[in-house]
Amino acid sequence: MSGVSRGLELSKIIFIGRTFEEYIKMFDLTIEEIPRLKILDAPAGACSFTAVANAKGGDVTAIDLAYFHPVDELYGKGQEDIQQAVSGLAKAKENFVWETFEDIASLESNRQRALEDCIAHMKISPDRYIPCVLPDLPFSDEQFDLTLSAHFLFMYADRLDFSFHLQVIKELLRVTKKEVRIFPLVDLMSNRYENLDAIKEAVHELGWKTEERLARYEFQRGANSFLRIYRD
Ligand SMILES: C[S@@+](CC[C@H](N)C(=O)[O-])C[C@H]1O[C@@H](n2cnc3c(N)ncnc32)[C@H](O)[C@@H]1O
Repeated sequence: MSGVSRGLELSKIIFIGRTFEEYIKMFDLTIEEIPRLKILDAPAGACSFTAVANAKGGDVTAIDLAYFHPVDELYGKGQEDIQQAVSGLAKAKENFVWETFEDIASLESNRQRALEDCIAHMKISPDRYIPCVLPDLPFSDEQFDLTLSAHFLFMYADRLDFSFHLQVIKELLRVTKKEVRIFPLVDLMSNRYENLDAIKEAVHELGWKTEERLARYEFQRGANSFLRIYRD
């Protein structure tokens, strides 16, 4: 089995996602602007942003390598992963800010709600959930107005290197007309991503501008800002 196929094994995927409301706060969006934008969520995992945004009149597409697996298997894996995450968090409560969720039970019910909404929407609108493996996206140039990428790139700086980050960001920019937002700017230990300046320089050379913005959201302590890559 090749490296890529091994990465696609369901046991290797953690199928967890945030809620629509968390995305709105972490990317400093407004609910009113959602229906005006064609949005890509990459990778979206078990996030409910696509489900809820489309129900509100939005035009949102999600991609993830997990979507190669049947929906019912993803649902079972998602439930196991929520239990695993919740017991891990209970041992490291002080690394998190308990405002968005007042306690572990509230966190668990929100992760469960995201999973349920995502799975229900996958069943009625499978065309909104595209299986693919970054850094390649099966979309044409400038197909989306706004591309969002949460809890993936810089968060896993220990296992995804600079060259992969840059390849993915260039691909996100290729399919995007106006703006890409990446959250957060720290890794799992809450250290700022060390190559952020180099990423910014590289995208400036491609003619894009950048800005670091504070999110209206902080759960992992220190994970409270996102990078806007935009052009006028
Ligand atoms: C931590 S989840 C984030 C989900 C969502 N963005 C959120 O914030 O809740 C990371 C996701 O990245 C997906 N993933 C990892 N490597 C990938 C790749 N090379 N291409 C596409 N998806 C990938 C995993 O399957 C997983 O669902």
